[in-house]
Amino acid sequence: MEPKNYLIIGGTSGIGAALAEALSKEGHQLFIVSRSEAPDLPEGAKYLKADILDLQIDLSSFLPEVLHGMAYCPGSINLRSFKALKPADFEEEFRINVSGAVTAIKAALRPMQKAGQASVVMFSTVAVQTGLPFHASIAASKGAVEGLTRSLAAEFAPGIRFNAIAPSLTDTPLAARLLNDDAKREGAAQRNPMKRFGLPNDIAQAALFLLSENSSWVTGQVLHVDGGYGALKV
Ligand SMILES: NC(=O)c1ccc[n+]([C@@H]2O[C@H](COP(=O)([O-])OP(=O)(O)OC[C@H]3O[C@@H](n4cnc5c(N)ncnc54)[C@H](OP(=O)(O)O)[C@@H]3O)[C@@H](O)[C@H]2O)c1
Repeated sequence: MEPKNYLIIGGTSGIGAALAEALSKEGHQLFIVSRSEAPDLPEGAKYLKADILDLQIDLSSFLPEVLHGMAYCPGSINLRSFKALKPADFEEEFRINVSGAVTAIKAALRPMQKAGQASVVMFSTVAVQTGLPFHASIAASKGAVEGLTRSLAAEFAPGIRFNAIAPSLTDTPLAARLLNDDAKREGAAQRNPMKRFGLPNDIAQAALFLLSENSSWVTGQVLHVDGGYGALKV
């Protein structure tokens, strides 16, 4: 397989780190961005310590001339009642889930266009398709991610593909509060049709597929990698 260049915003934890590992195993060159002080990176990966919400961020000098794809992994899980949520909470979620992705995609457009064919992966949540209590602010922002995905897929076809993955609960640092004791872990596993919660690599393998040429006819889609949680009633 010919080595390619991939940007992962948030490639130092959870799903992004699993994706970085998987891409690295295939011999690709990685460009990873996060705010971590001492990130554990795959060998050879280039790293930029930066906050994607920083208005002064300069990704263009970090990126290679030609970029074959990118994944935007920062996100949030703020499960609160609608009564407890303030309008500012919705804005904060929008910034990390949508505005950060827009900043990253804009910076990567030129090198992706130079690649001729490129692929972008973003992350939604099962809570967009399936109404779940206490998910109002995250569902609203991730719904916007899905809209952004389809809109950009249309605007940049056939050169750049855009897809999103909608996971259900997956065992990452972001979800730690929801899985931090045996009772919560057992409850989460039993609620899922596949009788387990997700692992970072379950989601990373789907992202790997969407970034690869194996998915060259897939664009504007939301792939539900959730153990069937959003679609099945069992
Ligand atoms: N885990 C789940 O159950 C679940 C379910 C549904 C959807 N998702 C979505 O899946 C995606 C990946 O989630 P995850 O669970 O793997 O999250 P995670 O473990 O928190 O990893 C997020 C990554 O993004 C980086 N990041 C966060 N804020 C950043 C910022 N402002 N600037 C630069 N980098 C930033 C983090 O590193 P630093 O903190 O060091 O910057 C980290 O590398 C998210 O969009 C999430 O909403 C997750």
